[in-house]
Amino acid sequence: MNMAPKQQKEDANRKSTCILAVETSCDETSVAIVRDGREVLVNLVASQIETHKAFGGVVPEVASRQHVECITLLMEQAISESGVAPEELTAIAVTEGPGLVGALLVGIMAAKALAFALDKPLIGTHHIAGHIYANRLTEEIQYPAIALVVSGGHTEIVRMESEGRFEVMGQTRDDAVGEAYDKVARALGYPYPGGPHVDRAAQAAESAVPLPRVWLEEGSYDFSLSGLKSAVLNLVNQSRMKGEEVDAGGIARGFQESVVEVLVGKAIRAVHEFGAKQLLLCGGVAANGGLRSELAARCAAESITLAIPPMKYCTDNAAMIGAAAHVKWIHGEVSDLYIKGEPGMSLEGWSVGASGAR
Ligand code: KG4
Ligand code: ZN
Repeated sequence: MNMAPKQQKEDANRKSTCILAVETSCDETSVAIVRDGREVLVNLVASQIETHKAFGGVVPEVASRQHVECITLLMEQAISESGVAPEELTAIAVTEGPGLVGALLVGIMAAKALAFALDKPLIGTHHIAGHIYANRLTEEIQYPAIALVVSGGHTEIVRMESEGRFEVMGQTRDDAVGEAYDKVARALGYPYPGGPHVDRAAQAAESAVPLPRVWLEEGSYDFSLSGLKSAVLNLVNQSRMKGEEVDAGGIARGFQESVVEVLVGKAIRAVHEFGAKQLLLCGGVAANGGLRSELAARCAAESITLAIPPMKYCTDNAAMIGAAAHVKWIHGEVSDLYIKGEPGMSLEGWSVGASGAR
């Protein structure tokens, strides 16, 4: 068989790679070593949730300082636990953006230093591409695919025609889903991060307080969460002013039903409209019980193949960054040592072939 040299190179790059990946975009310091973009040899995560709980949300400067404290130790521990000799590593991947700039910089500096010391290529990686490629840690992705990204900072419907190509079909115009969950949770008296508390309360409640569905213009894949969040805050305030007990369970269930119906409705419509072979759910809110069960039921009813990563790969972790970086590696795209944190980094711009090999 006569294969083009580019194809031969891509096929060779698909195998026998061992990428050390670093993630520090928000409040988790994580280092992983991933073989061939799918086999996780080690995935260490140091969460800062306990620290930020006292402030009711992530304090950026505190996050950066904690990343500084853990990153070198985690890198050393990951290498020793994996049994991979540093010189056997193929490349060093790191989240380049989006995220908190000070937090990103800690991981980037550590990754650059390691890449320089070991003389290995550096792969600046997009955080959302990481969330999407978390799915590849457990199964092959079938293209074209649609990804529903739901996290603390992002709510997006992404179309992927082929490996490593991203087209954002719609996104939130205001709050991200996780952010709205956390704000609603706060109003209902739950600690940070409140998403899981609202989820549990919603599933335990017997009835739902009716809340509107925010579909926006016909055909739009965008989302808007701030109106719904305000409606919840108004309900809570009205009850308090009247001296009534707040129906936290009913409100949580009403909020969750509204959010889930719109997310699921738009994602399923996108799958049909673009003839996707698979729907990928990802991001921290993919842990939501209501969303998982409704999406699973709708996909089963409409014969859509659904992939959801295991819980440990839904929230921020470096294994997913290693999986996404592998795609860039396959296509021969690496970064130079001048990369810096990109808080507003574009997902489409990170697509394979979009900016060529850097
Ligand atoms: O993806 P992630 O770990 O961090 C970002 O990149 O943003 O997502 C964290 C978000 C938080 O807002 C958290 O409240 C939310 O995911 N979350 C949930 C659930 N578990 C985590 N939201 C709703 N239901 C859950 N079960
Ligand atoms: Zn994330």
